[in-house]
Amino acid sequence: MAIDSSSSSELQASALSLPVLLFVLYISYHLITRALTTTKKNKPTTHGLKSHPLLGHLLEFLKNRHRFLEWSTELIVASPDHRMGFWIPGMRTGIVTGNPADVEHVLRTNFANYPKGEHAAAMLRDFLGHGLFNSDGEQWLWQRKNASHEFSSRSLRRFVVDVVSDEVACRLLPLLRRAADGDGRVVLDLQDVLERFAFDTICMVAFGHDPCCLCLAADDDGGGGWADAKKSEFMRAFGEAQDLIVRRFLDPVEVSWKVKKWLNVGMERRLKKAIADVHAFAMGIVRARRQSASASVDHHRDDVLSRFVASTEHSDEALRDIVLSFLIAGRETTSSALTWFFWLLSSRPAVAARVLAEVRAAREASTGTRPGEPLGFDALRGMHYLHAALTESMRLYPPAPIDSQSCAADDTLPDGTHVGKGWSVTYSAYAMGRLPAIWGDDCAEYRPERWLGDDGAFRPESPFRYTVFHAGPRMCLGKEMAYVQMKSVVASVLEEFVVDVRKEVAGGGVPEHVLSVTLRMKGGLPVQVRRRELAGSAE
Ligand code: HEM
Repeated sequence: MAIDSSSSSELQASALSLPVLLFVLYISYHLITRALTTTKKNKPTTHGLKSHPLLGHLLEFLKNRHRFLEWSTELIVASPDHRMGFWIPGMRTGIVTGNPADVEHVLRTNFANYPKGEHAAAMLRDFLGHGLFNSDGEQWLWQRKNASHEFSSRSLRRFVVDVVSDEVACRLLPLLRRAADGDGRVVLDLQDVLERFAFDTICMVAFGHDPCCLCLAADDDGGGGWADAKKSEFMRAFGEAQDLIVRRFLDPVEVSWKVKKWLNVGMERRLKKAIADVHAFAMGIVRARRQSASASVDHHRDDVLSRFVASTEHSDEALRDIVLSFLIAGRETTSSALTWFFWLLSSRPAVAARVLAEVRAAREASTGTRPGEPLGFDALRGMHYLHAALTESMRLYPPAPIDSQSCAADDTLPDGTHVGKGWSVTYSAYAMGRLPAIWGDDCAEYRPERWLGDDGAFRPESPFRYTVFHAGPRMCLGKEMAYVQMKSVVASVLEEFVVDVRKEVAGGGVPEHVLSVTLRMKGGLPVQVRRRELAGSAE
């Protein structure tokens, strides 16, 4: 039967109008529920942020996605309550805050109401399972209790110092010596070197495995001819899995990664392969450790895994997840902090000179050690100026620049602002480091002295103002280990070498960063190193 043209166009119109109608209903539903839940309650402010009646802040988000940190910082600094509220209908609603009172409320006072939340946990679950980093409630609590007990133990602390000292003395310094003694043109990517350093040490601390990422090939001149590409394969797969999983978070259309995963296409396909490689590798180590533990040939080990293996109540998968959480926490954080620190130092000779003077004084006081040998735990702990210089560097360039939690039930912030159930609540350590209200009008300046008392001793700041290591019950467990590692690297490198940064930054400004979990420097940090005794000790 033929259909006349008028009925055909009616059909087309009705076929077209159905999705339009559904869309309108969908948006209306969200507008109405939002209006109902926030009427008469103090909505979060959105200073300087244009909201579209139907799309909320989606357009602004898409426009600024590539410069999220700078954009949110501008809004937070300009806003009187130091936070920005945002709303993308049907997808995300929440706040990004730089307000210390909000941070204290969310991370401590009403901690139970702000878990990581199912939304984030679901995105990370394929990779990190139910490990410490990706769990809430009871599941998080027992892992946290065990891990904090281990982290405060003297034997783990000693083990960390030994692992770091070995990596410095046997890998980092020989690599730099070869580069310095080369034909003078060897350019190293210091960020890559530091990431390899951090991966080796965290693997040793987490599961007693040495991936040897910083091992050089015997015939290399220091330019990065790594000993065995296969050994670095785990690091590569881990990095790829982490980078790809971050893309799930950056996609404003929440279901899109689920659809791609279900279809096994695009980046989800690559992610699946990278995760499978990481899991197979980690599982191999866990199983081998189980066997050697049951054969009682492994009782001298001090790494985190061996402590959890000792208890038989965890499945192999649970052990794998615990270990992967440590790897994700410790892998790129210290390397990011040190990369920005060496970049800052390159244009601040007075700070470098003060650090060097402190290192030399510590060396003199540490009888029985010579330059080229790592300094011990107490000597490192006594370096207050270096502690301040690193802390100040992370204030401006925090390794974990933002951190999100989810609101479990309607709540009110200390100034009366409403937070709705299901909203994301993100604090920006990056913006907080740039707030005159916290650090004064010179907040943009790099000034280690702001951390020192009149007696020259380091003065810590409230973790709700200096949020670099998180705060409250979920505060970073590896903070002390991170400082030991960073101080050991800086002291050993500066004592022996002058580091010349070879990075061209347009307009002499700040290098760009990669949008990832950690604040990585885009394009790495190219440097050349010279032996200090040849460069002259004044440098
Ligand atoms: C400069 C270096 C580091 C910085 C700035 C840093 C910062 C942080 C931050 C912001 C968090 C909270 C993350 C979140 O819950 O979303 C965290 C958690 C954590 N960090 Fe660190 N971290 C550093 C190094 C390390 C190292 C070397 C380790 C060693 C293993 C480590 C172990 C952990 C663990 C296990 C957690 C999870 C705690 C929990 O959820 O209860 N961190 N860290």
